[in-house]
Amino acid sequence: MTKIYDWKNEIKEDELNSVIDTLKDNGLVILPTETVYGLAASAFSNDACKNIFIAKGRAQDNPLIVHVSSKKMIYDIVEKPTEIEEKLIDSFMPGPFTLILKKKPCICDTVTCNSETVGIRMPIHPIIHKIIDQSNIPLAAPSANISGKPSGTCVDDIKEEFNNKVDLIVDGGKCNIGIESTVVKVIDNVPVILRPGFITEDDIKKVIGNVKLSDKLFTKVTENEKVESPGMKYRHYAPKTKCILVEQNNQQVNKINKLISDNSNCCVLGFSEDADLIHISKDKFICLGSKNNLQEISSNIFTCLRKVDTLNCSFAIIEGLEKKNLGLSIMNRLVRACENNVI
Ligand code: TXA
Ligand code: MG
Repeated sequence: MTKIYDWKNEIKEDELNSVIDTLKDNGLVILPTETVYGLAASAFSNDACKNIFIAKGRAQDNPLIVHVSSKKMIYDIVEKPTEIEEKLIDSFMPGPFTLILKKKPCICDTVTCNSETVGIRMPIHPIIHKIIDQSNIPLAAPSANISGKPSGTCVDDIKEEFNNKVDLIVDGGKCNIGIESTVVKVIDNVPVILRPGFITEDDIKKVIGNVKLSDKLFTKVTENEKVESPGMKYRHYAPKTKCILVEQNNQQVNKINKLISDNSNCCVLGFSEDADLIHISKDKFICLGSKNNLQEISSNIFTCLRKVDTLNCSFAIIEGLEKKNLGLSIMNRLVRACENNVI
């Protein structure tokens, strides 16, 4: 049985040593970050990192990102960043931000899937920060979910799927951002957002003056297509139940009610403001939060997507948001959860 440490209220110093020893012994530990839970192992160890791929059922060509606790640790593991990259590091780290940089040989090839680059992230969450800082080990950590499933933002959502597959789970409570970090690569001196997150296009524009969104954020990418970030190719975030996303416009609630009246066995993921306007029983309505509070929605989104499969419906209807700022990042997850089934 996988051990679970309860650090919701405080970091327990005696258990801290055992977490660090487990990582030093090339074990697997699930840790909270401010975005989502991560499935962590030493980024120096091919063996440990191979076990991450096995535990998640992750595609062999989808690289892991590496978590650090200081700027010094970044310089230890990557080649000297350019001026623009340096500015991004100074502006957005620590925080929900991942920058693709050129790796040094000490980062094992399993992490990067033999590529020359590595994604670097410096989380601000006190638990993972302290573990990296005290162990002095950079941690490779993808989101803690079986590949394809919604990411894990609280321990209750993931403890069953990882029981006996990892050595330890550290419970730090609910992740307050709830969607994964913004992934950026500087290409021809322009930061390109490969995965949108809590740090938005506008945030980056304010610092660098120029930023691009990858043109693949809302399109279906085929297995053999060449992409900047392998993660774009794979089925992501999707419940087993088929989902349909209804775009935000003045017909949104009407369209949802029409779908409900045509199909008796469905559920709705919707905003609190629309709960009374949507004609479905309370037990089939999963509340995403208020549409005026995007952070509330982002912190709930993966738990809500996981709830869908517990309701035994033939499909789920999801209320969409405006694709702006954090709303764009949430919509990126929802479009993928619906496998581009959008009306
Ligand atoms: O918030 C987060 O980023 C979470 C927490 C645990 O830190 N981690 C996370 O990792 O979401 P993961 O592996 O689920 O997503 C990392 C994404 C993947 O889509 C992967 O393809 C992409 O980053 N990626 C990793 N290394 C890359 C590289 N060298 N070049 C381009 N994309 C890369
Ligand atoms: Mg992931």
